[in-house]
Amino acid sequence: MNILILGSGGREHSLAWAALQNPKCDKLIVAPGNAGIAQIAECAALDILDGDSVATFASENAIDIVIVGPEAPLEAGVSDRLRDSGLAVFGPSMAAAQLETSKSFTKTICDAAGAPTAAWARFDNEAEALAHLDQTGAPIVIKADGLAAGKGVVVAMTLDEARAAVTDMFGGQFGEAGASVVIEEFMDGEEASFFVLVDGTTLLPMGTAQDHKRAFDGDEGPNTGGMGAYSPAPCMTPEITEAALERIVRPTMEEMARRGTPYSGVLFVGLMIVDGAPKLVEYNCRFGDPECQALMMRLGAQAFDLIQACADGRLHEASPNWADDHAISVVLATHGYPGDYEKGTEIRGLSGLPETAGEIVFHAGTTERDGKILATGGRVLNVTARGDTLEQARDRAYSMIDRIDWPEGFCRRDIGWRALG
Ligand code: AMP
Ligand code: GLY
Repeated sequence: MNILILGSGGREHSLAWAALQNPKCDKLIVAPGNAGIAQIAECAALDILDGDSVATFASENAIDIVIVGPEAPLEAGVSDRLRDSGLAVFGPSMAAAQLETSKSFTKTICDAAGAPTAAWARFDNEAEALAHLDQTGAPIVIKADGLAAGKGVVVAMTLDEARAAVTDMFGGQFGEAGASVVIEEFMDGEEASFFVLVDGTTLLPMGTAQDHKRAFDGDEGPNTGGMGAYSPAPCMTPEITEAALERIVRPTMEEMARRGTPYSGVLFVGLMIVDGAPKLVEYNCRFGDPECQALMMRLGAQAFDLIQACADGRLHEASPNWADDHAISVVLATHGYPGDYEKGTEIRGLSGLPETAGEIVFHAGTTERDGKILATGGRVLNVTARGDTLEQARDRAYSMIDRIDWPEGFCRRDIGWRALG
């Protein structure tokens, strides 16, 4: 099969790596890709938000299936355009992707489906939102309604912080995404990510993971896109996983189908485990990054079989074979991230690192110039390893990190701390 993957991060590098191991893969193209992806696949400079360009490219290159990595092309309707042209597509329609692109949409669906989530209210103007805060008090959570590149959420521990967040959002901090604001009950518990493949109404759990959102050790510092993840998440016991599937995911998916916008693709279910029961924090319509890197390392070649079954509407025939293993992905980021950071610094020491079924460095924000690998992003490398235990996976990942020579980078040294005790 000829496979096209859209995206340029570590998530897409890991999807490409898994697809390449599958004997069904004849040709793999990633658009636009990065320096690490270019070492294993053909990269194409394509505007992945332009459905017409992607469809034309797919037809010229005899592509059979398109895997959409990030959320932006979903919001732009690219998956619909590709499906209309007869391609198999892994990624939900624009209408179904509202589960990620609109917080108030998700809340409305959860209410209709009876799925447990934080109590909420939506506001279009600052004065009413501020008046509401006087009634709720703090802690309280303020969210820009639309997509804000993962930055539109403020967990306010004081009323002053909450008021400032409301004023900033209505003041245009997140542009259109903050034109309306959702104010949500604060949920106190342990967070976990649950990945479920969905093809309309068939659900297939694809694994659990835990991310580390804060920039620094001990969960200190600013929020980021994720500084490291491991899979599985021990807090996702079989009972909690079953409860999340039956009380949250299934009713939501049935409600989406009832509305004529069935969901197809991977559903990333962000959960808070409160007093032993799961509550929904949010849905995303794509794999998590770096959660995907840990999942792909555990699934290997079969990941593509599952993705293909999902895109073809044959999930009822599929099932993952889980090994009793653990994987971890540690993010190396440029100093300064998630704020301002320098671009173009050289990373040395990568060529001597192992590249096996249990150890690999996925690239997230890199480019190659004159044979040198340069950092171009905030999150730059995802050092990923597998082991029989999480300790073993972690030790393998950090021993690779210790061999990378990049003074301008940093990482958290405590990825996995919750599960390791
Ligand atoms: P989101 O972008 O909705 O995932 O929110 C980002 C982060 O904010 C989540 O990963 C949680 O850590 C936190 N968060 C979001 N909503 C809530 C809530 N209602 N209660 C507590 N924490 C929350
Ligand atoms: N790592 C969190 C996310 O991908 O949204």
